[in-house]
Amino acid sequence: MYSEYNTPKKKYNLKTNKYICNKFGLAEFFATHYDEFGYGKQLCILDAGCGALPLGIYLADQYDCKILGVELNPIAFKCAIENIDQLNLIHTVEIKNCNFVDFCNQYQGELFDCIVANPPINENVSNEEIEKYTNNTYETFDDGSYSFLTNSWHSLDGKDLADYIFEFGLKYLKSSGHILLVFCTIDCSSPDFVYKKAENYGYSVSRIIEDYIPAKNIGAESLGLDKVYTFMVEFGR
Ligand SMILES: C[S@@+](CC[C@H](N)C(=O)[O-])C[C@H]1O[C@@H](n2cnc3c(N)ncnc32)[C@H](O)[C@@H]1O
Repeated sequence: MYSEYNTPKKKYNLKTNKYICNKFGLAEFFATHYDEFGYGKQLCILDAGCGALPLGIYLADQYDCKILGVELNPIAFKCAIENIDQLNLIHTVEIKNCNFVDFCNQYQGELFDCIVANPPINENVSNEEIEKYTNNTYETFDDGSYSFLTNSWHSLDGKDLADYIFEFGLKYLKSSGHILLVFCTIDCSSPDFVYKKAENYGYSVSRIIEDYIPAKNIGAESLGLDKVYTFMVEFGR
């Protein structure tokens, strides 16, 4: 299947699948507001949990950025490869199909100007669910494993992808670098949940853009919502 991805200057049709993040409302929020952060072109950017790669594609295609994407879901990884080929971005985008935790332990490359992500944020995931899915290889999929990976992923020690991003940034972000996260408050009661995490790793919030987006843009209309409150937040040190 293909999903529409609408950015202010360009519309994309990205290869997707029912077992990957295939509604790009949060990535569209990112693309709509990215210019307000005043970053230049040709930055070196890490897209953590890149999925079909909407954030990385936007930055590589429209800002000539060098992108490294990391994605655990093998189906999303294959879609991202197809999207890179389709858009002829092979020379500026590299992606790895692995757990971000393993990536962090092995990475020895250059420092990044920016880390971008719309990570799974779920304040109330149970230990039972973490234990059920965390050791999954994700070679076979069902609705539960897809939902865990996309919306709730945590490691067995209780850290989520945002924790690992903040931790990785301490070592591999340039001193002037930033972390840009996009998230909505469906699975966390308030953005303070994310801000407190950042604070624990020594980051502070340098800019917040917040607004409602239509729930259907992220496939959340089945929750009985019309709109969801969404945040794009810049963290620095
Ligand atoms: C909310 S989705 C966003 C995907 C993509 N950035 C987008 O905008 O469509 C979160 C992504 O993080 C990936 N992910 C979750 N935990 C991960 C981990 N430990 N390592 C790598 N990727 C992970 C999921 O598989 C999923 O593709």
